[in-house]
Amino acid sequence: MRKPIIAGNWKMYKTMGEAKTFVDEVKGKLSASDVDAVICSPALYLAELVQMAKGTPLSIGAQTMHDKEEGAFTGEVSPTMLTDIGVTYVILGHSERRQYFNETDESVNAKVKAAFAHQLTPIVCVGETLEEREAGETVSRVSDQVKKAFQNIEGTDAVNAVIAYEPIWAIGTGKTATADDANEVCKEIRSAIAALYDREIADSIRIQYGGSVKPENIVELLSKEHIDGALVGGASLDPASFLKLVEAGVHE
Ligand code: 13P
Repeated sequence: MRKPIIAGNWKMYKTMGEAKTFVDEVKGKLSASDVDAVICSPALYLAELVQMAKGTPLSIGAQTMHDKEEGAFTGEVSPTMLTDIGVTYVILGHSERRQYFNETDESVNAKVKAAFAHQLTPIVCVGETLEEREAGETVSRVSDQVKKAFQNIEGTDAVNAVIAYEPIWAIGTGKTATADDANEVCKEIRSAIAALYDREIADSIRIQYGGSVKPENIVELLSKEHIDGALVGGASLDPASFLKLVEAGVHE
């Protein structure tokens, strides 16, 4: 039985004050154990939010990181720094990072390795463009991204990763993949993991769907066999909306 995981990706939104108000509002309303609830905030707020969420079921994650422990990389945040302040999750290879910040399958792989080396749970994002979908390349593209992200990662680590399937055309557009479509691709991702490792690991790894998820569509998405949670942008910014999303996971 895979535990549902609902993660909010705040992207570059909220002031520090707004971030703190959000965590204050949600932390007491989450019940432990049935679902993992994560907020991935801008790096600047991580230390403060980790302190605020301490002892509550809410976990705090970063939205990206460098793969090196330290060095002359102006503006970057390292895995060592994240672990040091108590961050437990990190989103890696988000399509916006790939599109605007030149992240590649190779750099994502280096970061996934670094995450495991520092006891961080990576949320590894994969997804196809509209062009790729229309050309019938969704499964090959996404499987290839999975294969490359997990290159030279031991199965004992891989099983603890979270994979987020986010079709790029569905992000922030209001267009959601149908639940059946999303489930089908998540099933293929599971097969790609089975091919890389084995069936047991494939059956244990958690796969989220992301792309215009909101309280109105999450129940149907989570009802699908291969969808174990959601990575949510816009609808994770409001406390009431985030709580509804987590609640849908509890009832899964
Ligand atoms: P939206 O939920 O705003 O479409 O964003 C999805 C996303 O990119 C989450 O990482």
